[in-house]
Amino acid sequence: MISNPNYVRIFDTTLRDGEQSPGASLTSSEKLEIARNLARLGVDVIEAGFPAASPDDFEAVRRIAIEVGNMRPDDLPSGRPPIICGLARATKGDIDAAWGAVREAAHPRIHTFLATSPIHMKHKLRMDPEEVVERVRQMVAYARSLCEDVEFSPEDAGRSDPEFLYLVLGEAIKAGATTLNIPDTVGYTTPDEFGRLIEGIIANTPGIENVVVSVHCHNDLGLATANTLAGIRAGARQAEVTINGIGERAGNTSLEEVVMALKTRYPVFGLETGIDTTQITRLSRMVSNYTGIPVQPNKAIVGANAFAHEAGIHQDGMLKHNNTYEIMRPEAVGLHRSRLVLGKHSGRHALRVRLEELGYELSDEEVNAVFKRFKELADKKKTITDADLEALVEDQMDTSEAFYKLDGLQVACGTMGMPTATVRLIGPDGEAHLHAAIGTGPVDATYKAIDAIVRAPNTLLEFNVHAVTEGIDAIGEVTVRLQPENGEVITRTSPQNGHARTRTFGGYGADTDIIVASAKAYLAALNKMLAARQRVEAAEIAVQQPSA
Ligand code: KIV
Ligand code: ZN
Repeated sequence: MISNPNYVRIFDTTLRDGEQSPGASLTSSEKLEIARNLARLGVDVIEAGFPAASPDDFEAVRRIAIEVGNMRPDDLPSGRPPIICGLARATKGDIDAAWGAVREAAHPRIHTFLATSPIHMKHKLRMDPEEVVERVRQMVAYARSLCEDVEFSPEDAGRSDPEFLYLVLGEAIKAGATTLNIPDTVGYTTPDEFGRLIEGIIANTPGIENVVVSVHCHNDLGLATANTLAGIRAGARQAEVTINGIGERAGNTSLEEVVMALKTRYPVFGLETGIDTTQITRLSRMVSNYTGIPVQPNKAIVGANAFAHEAGIHQDGMLKHNNTYEIMRPEAVGLHRSRLVLGKHSGRHALRVRLEELGYELSDEEVNAVFKRFKELADKKKTITDADLEALVEDQMDTSEAFYKLDGLQVACGTMGMPTATVRLIGPDGEAHLHAAIGTGPVDATYKAIDAIVRAPNTLLEFNVHAVTEGIDAIGEVTVRLQPENGEVITRTSPQNGHARTRTFGGYGADTDIIVASAKAYLAALNKMLAARQRVEAAEIAVQQPSA
């Protein structure tokens, strides 16, 4: 239990609210890798998922609870493993699922929620306010009978009647809630309003002094960080955030913005977090690569341009004194643009040590595979930086769901003749499959050849390419997002409205050849889609043929 009144707990919901963003579907090993690194970053709470959504979601949360929820304290900035939290609607079934998934963590938490705004109570829940109060009482008490650490959120608090909130929250405290989280679910409030809402809750809710008040803001009006900071100034001591601000619609509050605002403007806030800020850039890249959601270049703290000083006048000022135009040092967020980390002659051991320092826990087999790629890269590229290594590892990671692997690619393109690609893939049967296709350009031809082999009709929603470092020899990173076609139903259930939504799948690929990177990114997304389809089919068979 943290007793310092000036400590702000960082509750990371990248793997739950963040993963609800379209296209952010992560495999369970990607989730585990992100969770491990969130622990190393020093977050206090990891909301690992919504276990009632599916057996897969349940298993992913359970794995994180077991592995990350019991990490060795010496490896962590806070000296203790983070709290592992599972989300549950205010029903016994959801609460049982959340408890089942998190119970093996050293510090488990159940987070249950129920809407309190007039519009949600009337149209979504179809419940009277009295019924809502009663349900909160019963379900918080039920969660508390299972777990000592219970968080309750009145969903859509930003549009709820404050007097009603004081009542509901007071009942949640009486029933045993230990954290009360105030969500601005639809990103509607302004900083003044949200700050006043938190002030009012702290002043008027009976028993509030015995619990932690938390804030959870969405970014529909671009105000999530400002609202979160206003809530913290008003007395909240937990902020719910995601890496890169990913989340449904316009996203959630971004972890890096809140943490760096508190740190950089310490004289204004006088508040601390337990975050090791030098890990921010690395984790931002990892989340972007695994989700396939690129970070906008002008994104505060982690955007490619956040520390770039283009204009001549700025550069001149910077050369005279860093602080002229820079309020944070890039190193403070772990940005070492061109640091040479390893050279052509570095051995396997040096690579393993550096990868461990970067936070990757790889098996011998994985290190060997990365080492091979590293040597190939060192032959092509003069300097190899941390960013290059991260791109290699993430490109190499998670072959667990690889139905198809790229085994060879040759393209012919340019102004003469038709762009043509010949692709060789190793399929799930272990056999090589070869196909050649023409297209409007080399990427189109490559994707057509892959489509002819994989036969998984899809719509490509997004294709992004960018260079990891400066220089003509840089590694190119490609991220794609796609959706199954022909009305095929691969869905995920939203905890908020219970609706099933067609999933989109993201993929990432990195290579000094951007056509190869494009092929890998496309295959990574297709493999995720095929794995999800296989799980849907397995679940359908299980329903049709229940075991005796
Ligand atoms: O935005 C929201 O209201 C939520 C709750 C489940 C906390 O994500
Ligand atoms: Zn939310």
